[in-house]
Amino acid sequence: MADLSMEIAGLKLKNPVMVASGTFGHGEEYSELIDLRKLGAIVTKSITVSPREGNPPPRIVETPAGMLNSIGLENDGLKKFIEEHLPFLAKFKTPVIANIAGETQKEFEELASTLSKERQVKALEVNISCPNVEHGGMQFGCSPVGTEEVVRAVRAATDMPLIVKLSPNVTDITEIAKKAKDSGADVISLINTVMGMAIDAETRRPRINRIVAGLSGPAIKPIALRMVWQVAQSIKLPVIGIGGIMNARDALEFFIAGASAVQIGTANFVDTQASIKTIEGINEYLDRKGIKDIKGLIGTLNK
Ligand code: FUM
Repeated sequence: MADLSMEIAGLKLKNPVMVASGTFGHGEEYSELIDLRKLGAIVTKSITVSPREGNPPPRIVETPAGMLNSIGLENDGLKKFIEEHLPFLAKFKTPVIANIAGETQKEFEELASTLSKERQVKALEVNISCPNVEHGGMQFGCSPVGTEEVVRAVRAATDMPLIVKLSPNVTDITEIAKKAKDSGADVISLINTVMGMAIDAETRRPRINRIVAGLSGPAIKPIALRMVWQVAQSIKLPVIGIGGIMNARDALEFFIAGASAVQIGTANFVDTQASIKTIEGINEYLDRKGIKDIKGLIGTLNK
């Protein structure tokens, strides 16, 4: 068996396959379906300071090659995460990456400093890329200034490995990635969802209450792969690839493009075993190719 272990900015992983924020809750429901111990890491649903009900329905719709969502960062809030969800996750000893979302710089600071005191949390993923909220989210991540403001504030509030999750809804992803790095990011994760919409022609109504939503799934994989490759070429930080990864073959493409780890998102809704099958498939490929260590595959695109 090849060596799948990975260390990213001090974050130690037994394998480089994580489950993506917003597609796995806080793990409770999935723990009955898969062995959470086998995952490289669990990235939580975005945590906000106060509980949020999220956007009114309909807020999910299937599309020909993926899905649109406009959940609106529904979650129980910081206090309940620490008191209830984190103790549950801690039982599995799989690294927990807390995804945080603030409406203001101050909220990001509070989330980062509070969660840094929790020893079960091994890294923070800063969500500056949610397309489904009025304040915060993509508003920060689509401008270099907004990116800098948030990343600097979070960096000052924590010594933990800091992952910054980028939005694809920008003209030049490398400009935002560079700004995140210069502001203190240790790792870049990308991509969050691509803005899209769907209409019911019979009723002429939008299929999503908030009209515009975030597209994920196989439809966005080529965009994600291109952006991962561009960012990996342009800055010297580890990159986590996200976007339409449905199986091991998809994941392998991201490693070859320069990712040091991947996150499985929409695939979890199609097949609860997708992340485990991806780990197994990567192993199989490395053995077949005689590659002893997954690190030997990163950024090996033959041009
Ligand atoms: O609407 C949502 O909760 C989505 C969050 C995200 O894409 O970051």
